[in-house]
Amino acid sequence: MSAPEKRSLEPKPVSASHVIMPQRMLPSDANPAGNVHGGVILKYIDTAGGICAIRHARSAVVTASIDRMDFLKPAYIGEVVTFMASVNLVGATSMEVGVRVECENPITGETRHAGSAYLTYVALDSDRRPQAVPPLLLETEADRRRNREAAARREARLQERRRERDSQLQHQSENP
Ligand SMILES: CC(C)(COP(=O)(O)OP(=O)(O)OC[C@H]1O[C@@H](n2cnc3c(N)ncnc32)[C@H](O)[C@@H]1OP(=O)(O)O)[C@@H](O)C(=O)NCCC(=O)NCCS
Repeated sequence: MSAPEKRSLEPKPVSASHVIMPQRMLPSDANPAGNVHGGVILKYIDTAGGICAIRHARSAVVTASIDRMDFLKPAYIGEVVTFMASVNLVGATSMEVGVRVECENPITGETRHAGSAYLTYVALDSDRRPQAVPPLLLETEADRRRNREAAARREARLQERRRERDSQLQHQSENP
C-alpha cells in the first residue's frame, strides 16, 4: 500500500489522474428497445469523469456542466463498456475532463467508439466553496492537442454563460 497523497498545488501530469473504468452491461441497464439506456451511459460517464477530477484535485468536486453528448453507436446488454477519462484543461478552480466511451463484445474482442463527452468539474473546500486546483502538466502530443481543443471549448462556454446572464438581466429589466 502506498502512502496517502497530501493535497498539493504542485503541477500534476495528465497520466496521474487517468481513469479506465470497464463496466459489464446487465439486463437492468436496458431501455425498452433492449439496448443500453442512454441515461445509464451518462451516469457512468459522470462517475468516471468525477473520479478523474477528484484524483487531480485531491478534494471533493461537483459537476458544473456536461457538454453536448452524441451517442455514435448503441451499446448492447452483455457488452463491456469502458469509460476512459482524462483531465484536458484546468482553470483556477475548474477542470475539463474528457470521457471516451468504448464498447467491446467480450466474446469476439470487437470494439467500437460509442461516444465522447466533455464535463467541467469544480473543486470544493470543506465549506463547499470553489478552491484552487493544481496546474496540469502536458507531457505528450495528445495531451497538448486535447488541451488546445479544451481551451476553445472553455472560451465558448464562458461566452455562452455571459450571453445567458445578459439575457436574464434584460428579461428582469423588462419585467420588473
Ligand atoms: C459549480 C458551482 C460550484 C460554481 O459556483 P460559482 O459560485 O458559480 O463559482 P464561480 O463563478 O466562482 O466559478 C468557479 C469556477 O467554476 C466554473 N463554472 C461555474 N459554472 C460553470 C458552468 N456552468 N460550466 C462550466 N464551468 C463553470 C467557472 O468558470 C470557474 O472556473 P475557474 O475557477 O477555473 O475559472 C456551483 O454553481 C454549484 O455548486 N452548482 C451545483 C453543482 C451540482 O449540484 N452538480 C450536480 C451534482 S455533483
